[in-house]
Amino acid sequence: MFIDTHCHLSKEDYEDINQIVLDDRLAGVTPIIISGCTKDSILESLEYSKLYTDVFVTIGYHPSEADFITDEDLLKLEEQLQFDKVVGVGEIGLDYHYGKENRSKQISLFEKQLVLAEKYHLPVVIHSRDATMDTIHILKKHSVFGVIHCFSGSLETAKEYIKLGFLLGIGGVVTFKNSKLGDVVSNIPLEKIVLETDSPYLTPAPYRGKKNSSKYIPFIAEKIASCKNVSVDFVAEVTTKNAKRTFHLD
Ligand code: NI
Repeated sequence: MFIDTHCHLSKEDYEDINQIVLDDRLAGVTPIIISGCTKDSILESLEYSKLYTDVFVTIGYHPSEADFITDEDLLKLEEQLQFDKVVGVGEIGLDYHYGKENRSKQISLFEKQLVLAEKYHLPVVIHSRDATMDTIHILKKHSVFGVIHCFSGSLETAKEYIKLGFLLGIGGVVTFKNSKLGDVVSNIPLEKIVLETDSPYLTPAPYRGKKNSSKYIPFIAEKIASCKNVSVDFVAEVTTKNAKRTFHLD
């Protein structure tokens, strides 16, 4: 059994949500954790968590929303965080890929949500793109733990995050031909890794180019197993334990 700790499930991307959940289960991927990170996708993911016993959610405003989120929206989020199947805050963080113009707005939104995570003792799921220094600096100021979503940095950065008490979310990128992520994975303990697809994006090989979904998690686990020279079953067992512990799924 595998856990997909981070995916996006929306009618915008999939015709038949029910079929997706059934296919995931058939592939042995259950439970799954949907990340709702805009006002609309938070509402939609909460709906699915009510419909399916093995669907959990993390919710939080993505840095791409930093220009639009009001204090009222944050109050709404705080209310939603208390729902039963909400297991974390995220994905939240910083994204300087398209520029830093609204850097201060991003940082402010990020920190306000970190405070919410502290208040409710929830793990955080961190989105950090071209913003490693600022992310680490800010995380050090808060007593939070959780997952660095879609980690694809260097070994040094990986170790820094691990020192801060974080696990690394490893996804399809590890299966890409020119990715150096496999080397990083072979040098960090399996106890610090959780599996994720970030579907519908970042589909693992050999299905690159197709739409991603949680059912492809075993391909990511296989690659990690070969990097670490262990069996896929062992990767499944350890990463499932890691995910359950982090998101309090038991
Ligand atoms: Ni994501």
